[in-house]
Amino acid sequence: MKILVVGGGGREHAIVWKIAQSPKVEKIYCAPGNGGIAELAECVNVAATDIDGMVALAKEKAVDLVMVAPDDPLAMGMVDALEKSGIRAFGPRANAAIIEGSKAFSKELMKKYNIPTAKYEVFDDSAKAVAYIKEQGKFPAVIKADGLALGKGVIIAQDLAEAEQAVHEMIDEGKFGKSGSRVVIEEFLTGPEVSVLAFTDGKTVKPMVSAQDHKRAYDNDKGLNTGGMGTFSPSRLYDEAKQKECMENIFLPTIKAMAAEGRPFKGVLYFGLMMTADGVKVIEYNCRFGDPETQVVLPRLKTDLVDIMQAVIDEKLDEIEIEWEDNAAVCVVMASGGYPVSYKKGYEITGLDSVPDVTVFHAGTAVKDGKIVTSGGRVLGVTALGANIDEARDKAYAAVDKISFKDEFHRSDIGIKKY
Ligand code: AMP
Ligand code: GLY
Repeated sequence: MKILVVGGGGREHAIVWKIAQSPKVEKIYCAPGNGGIAELAECVNVAATDIDGMVALAKEKAVDLVMVAPDDPLAMGMVDALEKSGIRAFGPRANAAIIEGSKAFSKELMKKYNIPTAKYEVFDDSAKAVAYIKEQGKFPAVIKADGLALGKGVIIAQDLAEAEQAVHEMIDEGKFGKSGSRVVIEEFLTGPEVSVLAFTDGKTVKPMVSAQDHKRAYDNDKGLNTGGMGTFSPSRLYDEAKQKECMENIFLPTIKAMAAEGRPFKGVLYFGLMMTADGVKVIEYNCRFGDPETQVVLPRLKTDLVDIMQAVIDEKLDEIEIEWEDNAAVCVVMASGGYPVSYKKGYEITGLDSVPDVTVFHAGTAVKDGKIVTSGGRVLGVTALGANIDEARDKAYAAVDKISFKDEFHRSDIGIKKY
């Protein structure tokens, strides 16, 4: 088979790496790809959001399957466009990707189908939104832009002044463009967060092993929110009882709800879960593999990912058994100094050849004059497997110590959550 993977981050590197292990695969293309992906796939410079360009590329290379990994092209209808051209595509159509693309949509879905989540209201008028926050009188208050906002559209306001400012910036000043012209105001929940990604063909849902992300930039969860500074799998909190609770109250009801709404979800559905004193609740849905969760989940997958993607597309997920290694994985992100605010690019990365014990997934790298250089905020995801999290973490950090580039920083506490 010839397969085209859309995207160019650490998640896409992990997907390409896993697909490359399939005996069925003869050639992999990746658009746009990055410096690490280029070792496994032919990278083609088509932007991940260029729908016409991607359809043309898939036709030109006569690929058998296109795997659309990022949220933006999914929300924009890339899978629909590929299917219309007769190309097999993995990922939800636009009418299902809306589960991530609109928080107002996902909250209404959860309310209608009794799926546990934070209480909320939706507003497109800032005065009404502020009046509601005053009436609730509870802080922190959570204010979310309705649409996609690069993970920056959630504000946890500590008092009324902060809440008013957030609402005003989103609705009246267009801080997030159209994404923020509508906001969701929701109840603040507390508890540890666990990410569970699941394969689904619209009828059957098969959850993957669990993971936990570290979103803040610095140790002990200090600093700004980022795209994710590291992950580990499995979560210590997600035991069998939690799995059963989630399957019954969240996973199956969500798949059934989407089908009932005429929006069958096919692809990977990401459940962002919070373990509250009141049971597990949904914080968010994503319509795709998570980044950097994928970097710790796929290395633990025993089954051929291509077989699973085919089963999802053909709606035969019930016929395939998905197997996982009984081990653990830790991914430490090495980032450019200044991320997530501003940072320089183009620094040479050294030491990549001296870490045979780990898999280094590239997130923001490029090849320049035959050398691998930094080209983004999150640069590398150094991933190690072990019998348990402690063993995997030791291996990952030993490798991190051998890799370097100018202004590099990373968290030193990935995998050491107190829970
Ligand atoms: P999201 O972009 O929806 O994943 O939200 C980003 C982060 O904000 C989440 O990972 C949570 O840590 C936090 N968050 C979102 N919604 C809530 C909520 N209702 N209560 C508490 N924290 C929240
Ligand atoms: N790691 C969170 C996400 O992929 O959205």
